[in-house]
Amino acid sequence: MRNRIHSVTTEIVSIEDDVNNIKIFTLSDPDGWPLPSFMPGAHLDIYLPSGLIRQYSLCSDPNNKTQYMIAVQMEIEGRGGSSEMHNLSEGMILPVSLPRNHFSLGDAKRHIFIAGGIGITPFLSMLPDLISKEIDWELHICAKFGEKISCQSLLKKYEKEPNIYKYISHGGNRLSIEKVISKIKSDEHLYCCGPSSMINDANINGKALGDRLHFEKFGIDEHLEDAAYQVVLKKSGSVVKVPKGQTMLGALRVAGFDVPASCEGGICLECKTRFLAGTPIHRDLVMQPSDRKEFITPCVSSCSSESIELDL
Ligand code: FES
Repeated sequence: MRNRIHSVTTEIVSIEDDVNNIKIFTLSDPDGWPLPSFMPGAHLDIYLPSGLIRQYSLCSDPNNKTQYMIAVQMEIEGRGGSSEMHNLSEGMILPVSLPRNHFSLGDAKRHIFIAGGIGITPFLSMLPDLISKEIDWELHICAKFGEKISCQSLLKKYEKEPNIYKYISHGGNRLSIEKVISKIKSDEHLYCCGPSSMINDANINGKALGDRLHFEKFGIDEHLEDAAYQVVLKKSGSVVKVPKGQTMLGALRVAGFDVPASCEGGICLECKTRFLAGTPIHRDLVMQPSDRKEFITPCVSSCSSESIELDL
């Protein structure tokens, strides 16, 4: 198990059942002390009793210094983290990391959010911040059924906000991301959080937005069919072969190189490494286009060239 750097001890004070097999956890300091502060859009690494580490977006108000809230959807076909989370009980001690943020608010006059399913969670920490600062925003929520909108209890306080739009696909009311993007002005940013299909749609239609398009997606595209390649390590002068079916991170470990990693799912950027040559295939879920020109996440990404050179 990785060393826990800067872990924060929290106690699970409540677990609330939500729709779509989601549980909402409220965490506090066991002795009632304030918790380390966080910025809107931040997430926590959760250190599970089994040693698994999982990342979940904070969905509480950053101005509340005594509580963290996270929402966890059970993934039946997942890697075990969500089912372990769902088996935790109120009163248990849960170590977490300091809040980290790869999905922060940009410098914009108006922020436009698109949420699919549990992708609503990071926006739930952004809305209170923007409302308190009187900065304009607009939220588009997509769900299959009206009663299946995730985190309804947390959305309740925004019921009277006129700038929340709901799209229920089962009623034939689908969001056109293209239409939303076509109305975005030069001083506005778009944020999209949801399944791969939604993010792909935003990426295809939002190319012109550049770094004004922010996204966080769920699920990793499977990539074990990539051809074998080699990694050239500039500083050590070593060459590591990555066979078909193995991750770059896995191959580096086998060769004895200890690259820091946490989520191993392209979310936390703990493994983010500068690349110097080669053609990367980026499969992280969070890096901005400008970052992708310089960095790669070896836990999920690979390359389409015969070799890739890393600054290691
Ligand atoms: S370990 Fe989290 S992005 Fe690679």
